[in-house]
Amino acid sequence: MKSAVTSKFKELYGEKYGLYFSGGRINLIGEHTDYNGGYVFPGAIDKGIMAAVNPNGTDRVRLYSIDYAQSCEFGLEEADKPEFQWARYVFGVCRETIKRGGKAGGFDAVFAGDVPLGAGLSSSAALESCFAFAINEIFANGIDKVELARIGQSTEHNYCGVKCGIMDQFASCMGKTGCLIRLDCKTMEYKYFPFNPKGYKLVLVDTKVKHELASSAYNKRRESCENAAAAIRRNHPEVEFLSDAKRVWLEEVRSEIPQEDFLRAEYVIGEVQRVLDVCDALERDDYETVGEMMYQTHFGMSRLYEVSCPELDFLNRLARVMGVSGSRVMGGGFGGCTINLVKDELYDDFVKAAVEQYKDKFGHEPLIYDVQISNGSSRIE
Ligand code: GLA
Repeated sequence: MKSAVTSKFKELYGEKYGLYFSGGRINLIGEHTDYNGGYVFPGAIDKGIMAAVNPNGTDRVRLYSIDYAQSCEFGLEEADKPEFQWARYVFGVCRETIKRGGKAGGFDAVFAGDVPLGAGLSSSAALESCFAFAINEIFANGIDKVELARIGQSTEHNYCGVKCGIMDQFASCMGKTGCLIRLDCKTMEYKYFPFNPKGYKLVLVDTKVKHELASSAYNKRRESCENAAAAIRRNHPEVEFLSDAKRVWLEEVRSEIPQEDFLRAEYVIGEVQRVLDVCDALERDDYETVGEMMYQTHFGMSRLYEVSCPELDFLNRLARVMGVSGSRVMGGGFGGCTINLVKDELYDDFVKAAVEQYKDKFGHEPLIYDVQISNGSSRIE
């Protein structure tokens, strides 16, 4: 990837550039909790987006995407929003930097990615974080990394139509090798947890399914949660986010909100608690409990939050049947990967069975990813 990016940059724009990288993310547990003010537990991975970037002294941005084999040029005013979706991520990052009082002048950039698109590994957050970091550096804005994550999140909200939480961009910017990050999305307090389970491996199995309309379904989930929180708040004014609510408080408003909103909220309240339970279990090196919580999350995401699909449920059931310690859909859902906590001795058999049986059932092989938990956004050259 590095040589592809740098040689294309030299061909198109010249010899001088800085090289930047931001990874995608995994999340051990805490799904759809971020925009509810709850906890998440992600880490950055070694697969992501790499970009060669150099200011060009004009007020235009010239971009080349290696993966799309397309170039795009745009100005930096709100009206200059580019036509290609992939370029809008970069445009949004520029605009959000400017809105925060930072400078984003013209620059040239070539970028490529090795994080699979639509696999639930947050390739878009990797792209946003990579450019947020690079722009901050080349124009010496001095914006801190947490705010850079917010620039990426606002880009999703304002330029890509996804009302996402902060988890993906936070992990992509703030990741640390070998560590997962427990982030309280309400206070933005965070703590790094070294994650190196002895005797287990984390394995991602990608269904290669990506559902259209995932972003409108995602936004709808968020609305349901906000609805439920608003109903609870009428009785308990201290409830700012759904994560502040107790299960019994939700019960009080059962008849006042649509059944659908109730189920979504039930999932979220359970999930917030599971993150804390997982942290306790990790402190005791109790990976079987961690795994059990992952199965509970899958059940909730499938039946209550309804963001799973037959392919993901199939892989989850297979994991259970084979005695895999933990398995669940990872990320927003509607396709993408399962994340599995597998004992070393079971690893080969599980991977083999997942590939074979999934192919028998759905007619195509899933992909198996082996990822390393890595540092977040950085300059690499
Ligand atoms: C997507 C969003 C995140 C988060 C997850 C679900 O990845 O970008 O903010 O809500 O879904 O946990």
